[in-house]
Amino acid sequence: MMELTHNHLPIHLTNLAQRYGNIYRLTCGNTTMVVLNSSELIREALVKKWSDFAGRPASYTADIVSGGGRTISLGDYNEEWRAQRRLVHSALQRCCQQSLHGVIERQALHLRKVLLQYQGTAVDLSEDFTVAASNVITTLAFGKEYDKSSLELQELHSCLNEIVALWGSTWISALDSFPLLRKLPNPVFARLLKEVARRDGIIRKHLNNYKMQDKKDEEAITASLLHGLDAHQNVENGALLTDVHVHMATVDLLIGGTETTAAWLNWTVAYLLHRPEVQTKVYEELCTVLEGRYPQYSDRHRLPVLCSVISEVLRLRPVAPLAVPHRAIRDSSIAGYIIPKNTIIIPNLFGAHHDPAVWADPHAFKPERFLKGGGGTTRALIPFGGGARLCLGESVAKMELFLFTAYLLRDFQFLLPESGASLPDLKGVASVVLKIQSYTVIALPRPMTNP
Ligand code: HEM
Repeated sequence: MMELTHNHLPIHLTNLAQRYGNIYRLTCGNTTMVVLNSSELIREALVKKWSDFAGRPASYTADIVSGGGRTISLGDYNEEWRAQRRLVHSALQRCCQQSLHGVIERQALHLRKVLLQYQGTAVDLSEDFTVAASNVITTLAFGKEYDKSSLELQELHSCLNEIVALWGSTWISALDSFPLLRKLPNPVFARLLKEVARRDGIIRKHLNNYKMQDKKDEEAITASLLHGLDAHQNVENGALLTDVHVHMATVDLLIGGTETTAAWLNWTVAYLLHRPEVQTKVYEELCTVLEGRYPQYSDRHRLPVLCSVISEVLRLRPVAPLAVPHRAIRDSSIAGYIIPKNTIIIPNLFGAHHDPAVWADPHAFKPERFLKGGGGTTRALIPFGGGARLCLGESVAKMELFLFTAYLLRDFQFLLPESGASLPDLKGVASVVLKIQSYTVIALPRPMTNP
């Protein structure tokens, strides 16, 4: 239990791998956890033996935040979950093809406007990144975007962040391990219930508003999901999916798609402050290849330096560092070790990305390792997990990371507040999402950026 209370769990679990090897077991009460610390082991479990390890651990509190296990991220592997994931996956794919590019471009241009308004003063950009990432998801989900000052947006973010933070607290996880505690008054748990109710109220309002609109945005994911539900009613197992699944899938997209992308953008700017010459190289590449125009996602193959930065930040700071715990749904094995049914599997993506057997100088920020002859391989990168539980938003995220970064670095040079100011701390604060500690930066418009 003590091993799991370290304040930067991904680093601690990675250090344990140096002592015990890339696969080891932790026991906490009657729960057995197996931690995987290399991409080879993680691929064996999540991809090669996906059908053995696609489950999620059940818990009292997970049930509460996931509407009885009806979110995709926390739902266990069963027929209902498969139908829900398929439904959301095809809705996302449809909107990736139809509207995603335009939605991200619009938010990137809006972000540019916001940064220009700062007029070169030192600011913390984390909230602006969160609003941009969140607007991509809310536009995709129900055709709605918000301003940073919007009370509705602030309410949505505050309750989603509260839920993630409260759920990670010891007062809440103790309820899973010690059922007797559930009978005692617990103000933290009461707050969690209140925030879950608040979240559900907000989402319900949005979905109802959407349903009542005369002129619906038919490109929105909600439209595809509701049409998909209708289709499900007609098949043999008619009521497998209901409005609750659409509701909880919307929660999944909002939680999964906001803080991850925003955290990654914060990491990227911070790393570029540490190595300004890399920022210059990306800018020069953008100028040469694009000849002044804004990039399209299809330009990525012609922008290797930019792509190498994206890969290197994903390697060093995978924003979901321990993925989400998996559960063995039958007896199986990993690397020849017997893994009994119900063992919890923790894929330590952070550890795999720092494995010295795979990465030379694993702690250094060296995007050039991903360029021709640099020795790095994207095959060993697994920031989105893999197999049946591969991040559902991978395609959305990849387009966002590329377009947001390309737009930002085309238009701005990121600088430290003043010469001699200390560089951002790169250790990070690890919870479900690995975030950087807040820092300030100057976004200086590049010459070709016309205000
Ligand atoms: C840099 C951006 C992102 C990263 C690095 C990331 C990474 C991950 C990882 C590691 C997992 C867990 C996989 C596992 O359990 O093995 C995950 C799950 C998930 N992600 Fe993402 N994610 C990102 C962005 C997004 C976005 C933009 C969305 C939504 C549009 C999203 C939605 C989800 C959902 C719904 C799940 C649960 C999948 C399941 O349990 O089947 N993620 N993500």
